[in-house]
Amino acid sequence: MARNIENALNSFTYGVYVVSGRRGERANGLTCAWVTRVSMEPALVAVAVGKPRYTHDFIKEGGAFAVSVLSENQVEIGRYFGTVSGKDEDKFAKYSHFTKTTGVPIIADCAAWVDCKLIHSYDAGDHTIFVGEVVDAGTSDAAPLVFRPGDYF
Ligand SMILES: Cc1cc2nc3c(=O)[nH]c(=O)nc-3n(C[C@H](O)[C@H](O)[C@H](O)COP(=O)(O)O)c2cc1C
Repeated sequence: MARNIENALNSFTYGVYVVSGRRGERANGLTCAWVTRVSMEPALVAVAVGKPRYTHDFIKEGGAFAVSVLSENQVEIGRYFGTVSGKDEDKFAKYSHFTKTTGVPIIADCAAWVDCKLIHSYDAGDHTIFVGEVVDAGTSDAAPLVFRPGDYF
């Protein structure tokens, strides 16, 4: 990709989220920066998940996903979920979590979370954009983590 395009795209700002899904008894999640709200009413959230990611088919086949908004003291969780694949490790076995309406795991003590029913999937180059309707949500007093590339790469 041309350097000017790469540089401009790298200046976009993001939060850091763990996006998770469930397939039967097994759940998995990955760190995502590409997460955004896309509708006010109904409340819809979009996440861009790379097609080769292990979590991809958990969301596609499970029909639901959760977004845990990591807090500013959860950088280590962002690193772990963003560098290790569920193909190799059961990531949720390592960190405390809980479930709500959809049964998809949510990271304990995160800044906020939304539990979503999958309503659309859009092909987007090497990623799929999953759009979910928020069916449950929660917040805490913790401040959300802002994405700084140097923390991860
Ligand atoms: C800070 C950060 C942000 C990331 N954002 C995304 C993203 O938005 N979408 C994506 O598909 N992968 C993203 N990744 C990469 C995945 O989290 C990473 O490949 C992960 O290990 C995939 O896990 P899985 O194979 O268990 O699904 C990000 C990684 C980091 C460290």
